[in-house]
Amino acid sequence: MERAWWKESVVYQIYPRSFCDSDGDGVGDLPGILSKLDYIRDLGVNVIWLSPVYRSPNDDNGYDISDYRDIMEEFGTMADFDALLEGIHERGMKLVMDLVVNHTSDEHAWFVDSRSSRDADKRDWYIWREAKNGGAPNNWGSSFSGPAWEWDEKTGMYYLHCFSKKQPDLNWDDPRVRDAVFDMMDWWCRKGIDGFRMDVISMISKPAGLPDLPLEPGQLYGNVCAPGGTCNGPHVHEYLREMNRRVLSRYDLLTVGETAGVTVEEARRYAAADGSELSMVFQFEHVGLDEGPGGKWSAGRLFLPDLKKNLAKWQRELEGRAWNSLFFCNHDQPRVVSRWGDDSPRSAKCIATALHLMQGTPYVYQGEELGMTNCPFGGIENYRDLETVNAYRELTETGLRQPEELLAVIARKSRDNARTPMQWDAGPNAGFTSGRPWIMVNPNYRTLNAAAQEKDPDSVLNWYRALIRLRRESPWRDAVVYNGFELLDEEDERIFAYLRPGESGTLLVACNFSPEPCRWAPPKRVLEAETRLLLANAGEPRLAESMTLEPWQAAVWAF
Ligand code: GLC
Repeated sequence: MERAWWKESVVYQIYPRSFCDSDGDGVGDLPGILSKLDYIRDLGVNVIWLSPVYRSPNDDNGYDISDYRDIMEEFGTMADFDALLEGIHERGMKLVMDLVVNHTSDEHAWFVDSRSSRDADKRDWYIWREAKNGGAPNNWGSSFSGPAWEWDEKTGMYYLHCFSKKQPDLNWDDPRVRDAVFDMMDWWCRKGIDGFRMDVISMISKPAGLPDLPLEPGQLYGNVCAPGGTCNGPHVHEYLREMNRRVLSRYDLLTVGETAGVTVEEARRYAAADGSELSMVFQFEHVGLDEGPGGKWSAGRLFLPDLKKNLAKWQRELEGRAWNSLFFCNHDQPRVVSRWGDDSPRSAKCIATALHLMQGTPYVYQGEELGMTNCPFGGIENYRDLETVNAYRELTETGLRQPEELLAVIARKSRDNARTPMQWDAGPNAGFTSGRPWIMVNPNYRTLNAAAQEKDPDSVLNWYRALIRLRRESPWRDAVVYNGFELLDEEDERIFAYLRPGESGTLLVACNFSPEPCRWAPPKRVLEAETRLLLANAGEPRLAESMTLEPWQAAVWAF
């Protein structure tokens, strides 16, 4: 397999709004991030991915960009950005920027022009359609509730917005749009950034004729992410190959596509090993496994064999042909320690172990390395995320859901769980801000915080450091990065165990994903080998024909 720096990397994702506030306005900012770079370096990661920091009216916290070449006022200035980039490079790390080009803000100059008249210069840069039978052009719904079409009084037409109505979709079929986007990307590359995380990039090519989508019972609108919708559209690979030719291939970048609705077959194209499109993609099958039958706003339980088989499928199917990204957390997912663990530090370490030692590039989302948990928000008035707030309003007002019951699901699944301020210390507002934080601080910060974990050799923080060290600078680094993957005991409902076999040695990873002690029989060939325990999050487990793994125990051996 071909080596590449981005295969050997560990990425740390920052959600700037909630990371560190330097000026007391309650919102995180770039100087705040700069002040924490040593902390990030000491974690052992070598890449930072910044969620959007561009100018934005913040309808969707920066995922609605009004100027791609400027910095959001609340976050600082371009000089602050340049200082941050320099600080990152000085510490031997790299910077990946979020690239949000499926849509812009409705306040972007391109859209302001586009909506100004039917024959405006940039009219065709967005997706405009006539009304159909006095209503929207088709039955598509916005991912943030309501229809995906907004009526524009001035020109008497509808525009498409797969997200909020302040996020109109760009029309990638117009070559001038592609020119403008590629030119902007080139501008950032010339500034010296090291890659892009591409927001909903699988959605940029819309299906011909924009057909209605099938409606499930209880659904108000067609789901744009369902098959036949906007994901993996007819020209998406063509456009990405053009982007690659014109921009990406001219620099040495890490590129990761957020690809809703991606299948293994599609991923092999997006992340093809020949480098013709992107380095890797984020797929979402595994984080959909605990959904109930009603989709996002229905909560089911995770059945561990489903998770193991799914991840093993991605490991097997991309091996040698594409490259996996490894993540359980990001700014759109609830906290994994609350989701699949039991909020305990040991469960956080156990889950991290299973993730980090697979083949692929791991992503750590801010606070995950502390075992930060979901937040007890209470009432809907404490949530800030438009996806959450809109869904609550739509589903309760239409009588589709009862408020109490829906709130309980929201508590488990809202994206805001990931967006509470980073817990730096036990001081006011967890050390995040001296002002009033834009979103509530998780009250557990008094005991769960970076300062306390720094001093505790058994902390979740120090466990992440050890996992990252094993991958980045131990004698086993090549095995962790490049070895194959073999799932063990696939039907076991509590043990997540696998081998990473390779010519120069094999790793064995065993994790008890349950709060009870659990019997486990390692494979015979392991017992016959001379094994060495590399890491254990509790005790010093010894491999034996039939052994017990303690609650949430995780261990790694080499032979
Ligand atoms: C992606 C982002 C999410 C955002 C959406 C619209 O899914 O990760 O946070 O709301 O795209 O840009």
